[in-house]
Amino acid sequence: MSTFYDRVGGSAIFAELVSQFYARVSVDPILAPMYPSTDMKAAAERLQLFLEQYWGGPDTYSQRRGHPRLRMRHGGFHIDSAARDAWLSCMRGAVDGVDLSQELKDELWKYLESAAIHLVNQPD
Ligand code: HEM
Repeated sequence: MSTFYDRVGGSAIFAELVSQFYARVSVDPILAPMYPSTDMKAAAERLQLFLEQYWGGPDTYSQRRGHPRLRMRHGGFHIDSAARDAWLSCMRGAVDGVDLSQELKDELWKYLESAAIHLVNQPD
């Protein structure tokens, strides 16, 4: 069985997805102040490597950063439902913009949506 990473054709789709996502984050009123304004490229690379690893690609993320522990790594950010929705809205635009079949987009989206819900750490 091939991995999702293989089915989407490898790294290029993740690079495109993350690039479109960060273009939106950098102008989002809630998210932009949360991200490192001087080094968005490094943040984009971390997200890209994480997603590639999650979907069965190379494990470069963990080689560089260790175990993902996403909930812990997001503990320092104020993630309420508005931040979650802003993140998902940037990501929805990015997913819609990449060149993938609807079926693959749906699979990608299902994961991203549930992961974002899981990272909320502030009550409304
Ligand atoms: C729920 C809304 C979310 C918000 C507001 C948020 C915000 C952030 C912020 C501000 C950073 C720091 C940027 C950096 O310097 O790397 C970050 C890092 C990161 N985020 Fe999120 N995030 C959210 C959801 C997600 C989701 C759903 C995923 C995965 C599917 C994810 C994966 C990551 C990864 C892999 C990193 C880099 C971790 C590291 O190695 O240090 N985030 N996030």
